[in-house]
Amino acid sequence: MSFTQLRDAESLSRALKMTPQSLRDRKRSGHPITALTAYDYPTARLTDQAGIDIILVGDSLGMVVLGYSDTLPVTMDEMLHHARAVRRAVHRSLLVADMPYGSYHLSMEEAVRNAMRFVKEAGIEAVKIEGGKDRADLVAAITAAEIPVVGHIGLMPQSLHRTGGYKVQGRSTASAEALLQDALALQQAGAIAVVLEGIPREAAARITANLNIPTIGIGAGPDCDGQILVFHDLFNLTFAPKAKFVRRFEDAAEVFRTGLESYRDAVIAKTFPSDAESYHLVPEVQAELCKSLRVVGGKI
Ligand code: KIV
Repeated sequence: MSFTQLRDAESLSRALKMTPQSLRDRKRSGHPITALTAYDYPTARLTDQAGIDIILVGDSLGMVVLGYSDTLPVTMDEMLHHARAVRRAVHRSLLVADMPYGSYHLSMEEAVRNAMRFVKEAGIEAVKIEGGKDRADLVAAITAAEIPVVGHIGLMPQSLHRTGGYKVQGRSTASAEALLQDALALQQAGAIAVVLEGIPREAAARITANLNIPTIGIGAGPDCDGQILVFHDLFNLTFAPKAKFVRRFEDAAEVFRTGLESYRDAVIAKTFPSDAESYHLVPEVQAELCKSLRVVGGKI
């Protein structure tokens, strides 16, 4: 791609930039919202260029790229480090970052300050917070600080110890109703969208039908206004059993494995690098050096 083509493509993607307002427009028009996590420059660049509407720097990065067994150890500094890399790659998608565990639990002031760090230090456009009614005041406070907030209810990975594991939520009448009330409270507090994770399809459809803001589902069935997945789940790069709601669209692990084995074998067989993959001296320099060095077969 030439510089002009690249510049034109980038100005086009900026013109089509996703904003909180475009999410609402999508809900009204019924056009599904696409969302995916990304944690680094190359995957964020590919995701943005593929026309995915929302890129989430999820705290799932703790498990997916840092090797922790859950999301609880993830720190603000780790989130900011990855968010900055993603920011450099993204032009069109709405860029959202997860507030990690501990960054919004101690005081309202600290939570707002941490949300602001995402904006000031990483160019993030919205933050995501786990929790329903209990977080409504916080959503309102961050929104009042001019930072759009995405809610997250249902299965909340940061509540792992309270809930006793990763369990589907909203299976009973009472808990499905409680989830709807949570979603309404978040909407009332100013949330721009709500992620519904691990919720029966019917309960998620009922929430979606009762909100003016979009719902983005993960393990919540096809009736949400949009869908989100973890990038590495889509490509079989998590080295974990596949959850029911995940579809592997490609097998990148297999591509990497084959490539790595071919590289290893080529180095061992000395077929890599080839002469064509090597730099050469110009003949005069080569000849000059030959005079002063012991050479084998005329070659240095
Ligand atoms: O951290 C994460 O990846 C999430 C999901 C909604 C995808 O919160």
